[in-house]
Amino acid sequence: MIQLGIIGTNWITHQYVQAALETKKYALYAVYSRRLETAQTFANEYEGEVLCETDLETFVSLPALEVIYIASPNSLHFSQAKAAILAGKHVIVEKPAFSNPKEMAEILELSQEKQVLFFEAARNIHEESFKKIAQVLPEKDQIIGANFSYMKYSSRYDQVLAGQEPNIFSPKFSGGSLSDLGIYAVYAALGWFGKPEAVHHFARKIATGVDGIGTVILRYANFDVTIQHGKIGESFLSSEIYLDKGTLWMNAVNAIEKAELHDRQTGVTALDIQVEENPMVEEAYDFAEIIEAPETPENKKRYEEWTVLARDVNQVLFDMRKQAEIHFAADEE
Ligand SMILES: NC(=O)c1ccc[n+]([C@@H]2O[C@H](COP(=O)([O-])OP(=O)(O)OC[C@H]3O[C@@H](n4cnc5c(N)ncnc54)[C@H](OP(=O)(O)O)[C@@H]3O)[C@@H](O)[C@H]2O)c1
Repeated sequence: MIQLGIIGTNWITHQYVQAALETKKYALYAVYSRRLETAQTFANEYEGEVLCETDLETFVSLPALEVIYIASPNSLHFSQAKAAILAGKHVIVEKPAFSNPKEMAEILELSQEKQVLFFEAARNIHEESFKKIAQVLPEKDQIIGANFSYMKYSSRYDQVLAGQEPNIFSPKFSGGSLSDLGIYAVYAALGWFGKPEAVHHFARKIATGVDGIGTVILRYANFDVTIQHGKIGESFLSSEIYLDKGTLWMNAVNAIEKAELHDRQTGVTALDIQVEENPMVEEAYDFAEIIEAPETPENKKRYEEWTVLARDVNQVLFDMRKQAEIHFAADEE
């Protein structure tokens, strides 16, 4: 069993721990929180003895602890991951893993030096639906475009309207729509088509200084991908990839439940997609496979692909953010 520790005690961490336990490859070993009572309340929901810590150094240094899942506000990921890696632990860092390319480069270098693994928890690229779509995509010269949409109203925007600055909309915590939702569409585009030749991002800032809604164009050699992202409104649009021979339709670009290939010659074929009830099971399983056998050629290749993708997504997000003149406190550090 992989001994799992967690940082951040919100609902997403419960979802990850439940997914990890469902794989039967992890045991919840320790919980870190700023408050002991919060850690204990979290731990009490799980069977067996779970250690609770409020001091980060003590937590990351627990000898039996093997991997730490980090789901704190975005800007804290870097210092927490760094502390964990220096203590010799693998890290699974929620998206967006880091605020800028400087942080990403330091973590990639340090994890290599310390011989530990870094995973960005970009769950959509681990879902079966994502892989099925990759399998049916033709060569890039037969793709003529794509249109992705991910826009969901955040109830925390109500707090912004009331004059507050919740973490998810705060430049201090590296928040905003692109960081929170747009990243899934960027991961999909780079995962399916590779790194674009150029990026263009037009965003509308909200009172806190981060983006509330935005439009992206990713330019590839022979096609463009447009992305609509937002957290201050709701979209009901599906997503599509346009091909020479027809259209690949998806109900969404993240957590895809339905996809159809509309071929002008042969008609409509639905892709056979099974959806996990807990959307984090597939990534938890994938990470466990690498942790258990990092040296097999197949696992080395998968890990290399994920880290290159994480680095490229981080760079593209940074370039987009700069174009939209959105500044994070982390950039000054
Ligand atoms: N993959 C997904 O589907 C998904 C979904 C939602 C969120 N996420 C990601 O998960 C991460 C956490 O998001 P969230 O919305 O849960 O964030 P959040 O509510 O702002 O904070 C998460 C946890 O971090 C700690 N925390 C909060 N404010 C803090 C502060 N000022 N200083 C230090 N620690 C603080 C708290 O834990 P303690 O009180 O125990 O210290 C809290 O439970 C983000 O990176 C987000 O992008 C991913």
